Amino acid sequence: MRNVLIGTGVVGEAIFDAFANQVRFDLAVVDSKFVKTGTWNDLPVISTEEYLKSEDLSGDSFVVAIGYTESNGLRRKKLEALRASGAKPLSLIHEKSYISAKSCIEQGVVIFPQVVVENHVTVEVGSILWSNAVIGHESRISPYCFLAASVTVAGAAIVEEQCTLGVGALVGNNVRIGRGSIIGAGAIVTKHVKDESVVINPSSPILGLPPKFFDQLSGFDSLKP
Ligand SMILES: CC(C)(COP(=O)(O)OP(=O)(O)OC[C@H]1O[C@@H](n2cnc3c(N)ncnc32)[C@H](O)[C@@H]1OP(=O)(O)O)[C@@H](O)C(=O)NCCC(=O)NCCS
Repeated sequence: MRNVLIGTGVVGEAIFDAFANQVRFDLAVVDSKFVKTGTWNDLPVISTEEYLKSEDLSGDSFVVAIGYTESNGLRRKKLEALRASGAKPLSLIHEKSYISAKSCIEQGVVIFPQVVVENHVTVEVGSILWSNAVIGHESRISPYCFLAASVTVAGAAIVEEQCTLGVGALVGNNVRIGRGSIIGAGAIVTKHVKDESVVINPSSPILGLPPKFFDQLSGFDSLKP
């Protein structure tokens, strides 16, 4: 039986690093155009084409380390193709995350450190929850979503398939985010969002204050020992 990491890019590096104490990968697999050397992080690397030609993949477990490329569609394609070939999607849940025993994490999900999944939540196949995400009680994260660092989903919210939520986005109670939507970094979503929407909130103005301004703040001085 082998543990196989699919993808050696930014997400592959992050997963390999974050889960180094929890899972030992035996093989890395990438499309042939990305095979540059025979090893990556001391793992043997082979092409997807070569891997899929292997006689029997039924003993293998795999993690698809691909982010929101093609609106999460590439991760979906890879996971479905490998599953159809007999390999099993592995879920990675970081030991420093809290997952309620009353919640359900499906196959092929990756949950980075310091994530909180409250009670009666479902995180469906192929979704990725990056560090510090919080999923409130009774919410559903549908298949192949990507939630960036520090996303907060309040209670009883629904994030439909293949959504991407940017860093620090906040989804309010009972809100439904339509399929394939992109929620920008820092956005606050309080109303339902139609399928394939892009949501951003106004960005903060850049004031351009001179650095000496901070020396004049009494609050900063009082923090000095
Ligand atoms: C929403 C988003 C997808 C839009 O990307 P884009 O189409 O390339 O947008 P641009 O960078 O061209 O910005 C267009 C305008 O929207 C503003 N804008 C972009 N993203 C914004 C955001 N999240 N909140 C507020 N304003 C934003 C830009 O400042 C710019 O304003 P301007 O026209 O006044 O200069 C993107 O900015 C975003 O938030 N991505 C998520 C990033 C993230 O969390 N990544 C996770 C990495 S793991």
